[in-house]
Amino acid sequence: MERLKTKVCGITFNNPVITASGPSGNGEELNKLIDISKLGGFTSKTITLNSKIGNPPPRIINVDGGMLNSIGLQNDGYIEFKKNTVPFLESLNTNIIASLGGYDSQEFEIMIKELNSTKIKAFELNLSCPNVSKGGAVISQNPNLVYEVVKNAKKISKKPIFVKFGIENVDELVENTVAAGADGVTLINCIKGMKIDINTGKTILKRKIGGLSGPAIKPIALATVYKIKNKYPDLSIIGMGGIMNFEDALEFMMAGASLVGIGTGVMIDHEIPVNIIKNLNNFLLKKNKKLDEIFSSAQEV
Ligand code: DOR
Repeated sequence: MERLKTKVCGITFNNPVITASGPSGNGEELNKLIDISKLGGFTSKTITLNSKIGNPPPRIINVDGGMLNSIGLQNDGYIEFKKNTVPFLESLNTNIIASLGGYDSQEFEIMIKELNSTKIKAFELNLSCPNVSKGGAVISQNPNLVYEVVKNAKKISKKPIFVKFGIENVDELVENTVAAGADGVTLINCIKGMKIDINTGKTILKRKIGGLSGPAIKPIALATVYKIKNKYPDLSIIGMGGIMNFEDALEFMMAGASLVGIGTGVMIDHEIPVNIIKNLNNFLLKKNKKLDEIFSSAQEV
């Protein structure tokens, strides 16, 4: 499918469809169900300096139009990740993007230094997890810290840096991210949401508020991608938020995304990413169009 090949931040992707960080974990289970090497790329679950057990359950529930999660960055920490997971990820014949989370600039620097020597193609700094709050842990709540983290990460990283944000304060955060020299942004992370059990009168998620993902957030995600691409036409964007089929993927690319991430969709039906690739190819063939004619077409007046 030569038609779907694309280059983003110097990396060649066989197609623009990648996994969003999170729902696919580190890929071991997904790779038993689909051939991950058929995807343009795979983004691993956010790792942190130290292992985290995450938030208490219930922490994933279905809601109208999607899903609410309050996982809280459960992971084994970067040392275990490098030892146990990176070899598997490196064995996949696709681009690997490692998602990193942290509390300050130094934590990111330590992880980047350690992972610079791997075959990971790019880093995605997840500065916007909606489910951690301890001591201002959400870096995206502090635009100056965002600048510092990205600037320092760029200094030491041997690989392109993407930075992931939600919708809160996204304009200022992207401005600082671009000023700090990031290669791209990932838009959007989940949007804060809640569900209440009317019989008990209590929230269903133990942590009360979680991150809403899935089709419910798609129009918001799309408008955010459009808005940021409009302001920064040269910035690479990984677009995500409720992409369930090739039509959704096309909309994101037409709005300004260079790559599209599938998160919740993989949980609903693990075939969704491969179906999107197949149908995108058929669409371009039928319309006799190149991907380049699709990208950012909605930006044109
Ligand atoms: O919705 C999310 N959940 N977004 C993140 O960035 C992390 C994840 C989690 O682990 O809570």
